[in-house]
Amino acid sequence: MKKSTIKYKETPPHQLSEIVIPLLQWYDCHARILPWRENPEPYAVWISEIMLQQTRVEAVKPYFDRFMKEFPTLSSLSNASEDDVLKLWEGLGYYSRIRNIHKAAKIIIDLHGGQLPASYEALRSLPGIGEYTAGAIGSIAFQLPVPCVDGNVLRIITRITAVNSDITSSAVKRELTECISKIIPKDRPGDFNQAMMELGATICLPNGLPKCEACPVSPLCEAYRQGRMMDFPAKKPKQPRKIEEKTVLILLSENKVALRKRPEKGLLAGLWEFPNFPGNLSEQEVRCMLSGLELSPVSLRSLKKAKHIFTHIEWKMTGYLIFVKALEGKAFRWIDAEVLQSQLTLPSAFKPYYQAMLCVTRNDWREK
Ligand code: ADE
Repeated sequence: MKKSTIKYKETPPHQLSEIVIPLLQWYDCHARILPWRENPEPYAVWISEIMLQQTRVEAVKPYFDRFMKEFPTLSSLSNASEDDVLKLWEGLGYYSRIRNIHKAAKIIIDLHGGQLPASYEALRSLPGIGEYTAGAIGSIAFQLPVPCVDGNVLRIITRITAVNSDITSSAVKRELTECISKIIPKDRPGDFNQAMMELGATICLPNGLPKCEACPVSPLCEAYRQGRMMDFPAKKPKQPRKIEEKTVLILLSENKVALRKRPEKGLLAGLWEFPNFPGNLSEQEVRCMLSGLELSPVSLRSLKKAKHIFTHIEWKMTGYLIFVKALEGKAFRWIDAEVLQSQLTLPSAFKPYYQAMLCVTRNDWREK
């Protein structure tokens, strides 16, 4: 028999099944009314689950409504241009999610007759669908008894069982996932998974005290019995974020702004951006850089510093607003400011400089 990596305290996995009935009864009374729960058909469940990755429910709601209005069917989505699809995602961040949705939509049309496949493995093989999302779509839309385990669910389970193994270890996560798989009720797998999500989002909270007095499974919870809710889940300390300094240039000329596309791989892959360069460059260094790019500034003004935090990286940005003579320099695309605003997607990291550009293009553009 395979040896367990996990040390269980009072509640071994076979007793975990006792949470199912009180959890589902609680969910029946307390589930939030959410747009994607009204009609959990596979396409809507898929879009909502991808939007909900790394994003709060409240932030997702208006995006979900807009998206479903614009692309009510999978085939309407697969026929849309990438720029149009990205525009609807603007502000949600993590843009590889929508790129993968768009790719997957085309694959579903080509290989699955336009319907999301009703098998965990086939879902899992689509771009952007990992174990969690395949579990969510499989259980909610197709009633497959598959688990759906994220940080919220691991927090609930480690509290109930008072397991203090490190949940960032994949062996620990695998074992806890197996425990959950064994208790999924065959008649309500989607409701069970959503009840766990709901408990994690509204009761068994990570920061601040969890609301144990309102928890349907606190009588079965070992961490609660010991008064040690905040000790779980055990995690290795996080690596500090890598800091990157950048100098962002808002280059303007004849109603147009210089943009370029980011590389197809890595952070913010393939998205438009303002030209930017490593380091915290002084005005003098920027002037040098501009002459290397065969650009001659008519005016150059420094902008406020800004920062943007990604999951593993933090950008500390210095910005300059620069008017150049008639459309010079071949290193960038010169895009009409209106077109940028209405049709293209600029990552949120550049928002402070985008705002500065809007102020100028609205106010004193004509003076130049
Ligand atoms: N987070 C991830 N999936 C969710 C869902 N279906 N409902 C609420 N929150 C979620």
